Amino acid sequence: MDASDVAAHWESNAEIWTIYSRAGYDKYRDALNTPAFLELLPSVAGLTGLDLGCGEGTNTRAVARLGARMTGLDIAPTFIRYARETEAQDPLGIDYVLGDGQSIDVPEASFDFVTAFMSMMDMADQRQVLMGIHRILKPGGFLQFSVLHPCFVPPTRRNIRDQNGEAVAVQVADYFDETDGRIERWLFSEIPAEERARLTPFSVPRFHRTLTSWVSMIVEAGLMIEAFGEPMASQEVALAEPVVADTRVAPIFLHIRVRKT
Ligand SMILES: C[S@@+](CC[C@H](N)C(=O)[O-])C[C@H]1O[C@@H](n2cnc3c(N)ncnc32)[C@H](O)[C@@H]1O
Repeated sequence: MDASDVAAHWESNAEIWTIYSRAGYDKYRDALNTPAFLELLPSVAGLTGLDLGCGEGTNTRAVARLGARMTGLDIAPTFIRYARETEAQDPLGIDYVLGDGQSIDVPEASFDFVTAFMSMMDMADQRQVLMGIHRILKPGGFLQFSVLHPCFVPPTRRNIRDQNGEAVAVQVADYFDETDGRIERWLFSEIPAEERARLTPFSVPRFHRTLTSWVSMIVEAGLMIEAFGEPMASQEVALAEPVVADTRVAPIFLHIRVRKT
């Protein structure tokens, strides 16, 4: 699957994704994944950053609020339109650009850092993406990205629950199946049933890579791994947002920070 096919799928998701994520239905992102990502993020105050696969821009704005001068880049025009509309209403100095993360059109050494929240496993050629990021980072700059955890969310995954419905184990399969745009169809699980019934599920092309492949691609791009994060919901967060309680059994997300030395 090439970038134009990927773009078409995300463009078809963008409207519903924006409406429902902004309405608070992306529980994993809001309750767990983004807070943990920001906790792992080094200080970015005064730095120039690129958010790759920025979607409608919620996470780009969160990084901008930490004091960074941000550019957001995404392949789906509707996401960029929503992100720009929000920037016009509540300016944070973010420049949103429509583009492909596999061929980022900016001069070498343009950015102090790059973030990519849950977008790299959606890009077809991650080797090329990582090499491009190495090119656009200043020496000493870093990339921090989050992906579905390669080990615990490979192409086949199922929560195993006890008689009370609580997640107690995870069944995984197809770990070595490095999918090339296999379509996964789903909606944010907390959307009420009557609304779900009239929505078309998202259509997400997935490019799963094993942990070994991720590390190989990072090393080949000339980047040095400096931090891993595997967010787990606290007891408190799991009580407040029960849907994320399964991250107490095994992580769903992997955060990786790498540096251009
Ligand atoms: C799971 S969404 C995450 C959006 C946002 N980062 C967030 O955390 O809310 C993945 C995003 O990656 C974008 N994307 C996929 N392939 C891309 C590519 N080749 N270049 C740029 N963006 C891409 C999609 O359009 C989508 O906005």
